[in-house]
Amino acid sequence: MHICKVKNYQELSRKAANIIAAQVILKPDSVLGLATGSSPVGTYEQLVQMYENGDLDFSQVTTVNLDEYKGLAGTDPQSYRYFMNSNLFHKINIPHDRTFVPDGTEADSSAACAEYDRKLQETGPADIQILGLGHDGHIGFNEPADHFEVSTHCVDLTEQTIQANKRFFEKEEDVPRQAYTMGIGTIMNSRKILVVVSGKDKASILKSVIEGPVTPHVPGSILQFHQDCTIIADEDALSEINL
Ligand code: F6R
Repeated sequence: MHICKVKNYQELSRKAANIIAAQVILKPDSVLGLATGSSPVGTYEQLVQMYENGDLDFSQVTTVNLDEYKGLAGTDPQSYRYFMNSNLFHKINIPHDRTFVPDGTEADSSAACAEYDRKLQETGPADIQILGLGHDGHIGFNEPADHFEVSTHCVDLTEQTIQANKRFFEKEEDVPRQAYTMGIGTIMNSRKILVVVSGKDKASILKSVIEGPVTPHVPGSILQFHQDCTIIADEDALSEINL
């Protein structure tokens, strides 16, 4: 694991965007694995700015997102499809039909997951996968469990994740209890992985991810086994680690 310590969220976002930009410049038809949540928002803002400045062209890029809430349509402002459209896809020149997010409206979990795996098979592994880190160590929505799930599956969100995500919803009851998520096997198949972590509230889990034993009870710890994983984290998130 390569750890890159930065001062704050703004520096984190600029560094992460520069790495993704380099990927797209060097390989214009890259497959970008994308995440939602607060952590990558600044990175997406930077990428949009680079696009607006004429420094980046997404016309040949394909994207695959990590996850989607089960039951939410892409038109729902709380859905991850909506998040991606409004934070990135609608602001750059990526063809909409090359942006993939699991289909939250498919009520049959096995069908939804099989269909997403078929798409991931078609796109091939992500050239670079961006990840945020959940307070319970989840990556994508791979929650702590007794084993690592390899491919796309339906998960029951943990109470901690529901609590963390309720800030995006009007009422706690509105937070979906299930999600479709890319599996750990698919994430680990990415050629490069870029994890963005910010804030004191992530310090303890980040320490476990970097220094703790590799265990499905801390799903992000599996990243210790990835050959090309960079963690960009701010001083607050790294405050429990001596570098
Ligand atoms: C989002 C995702 C999640 C988040 C994680 C951190 O697509 O897969 O794993 O990355 O919950 O969320 P934030 O960045 O909001 O702290």
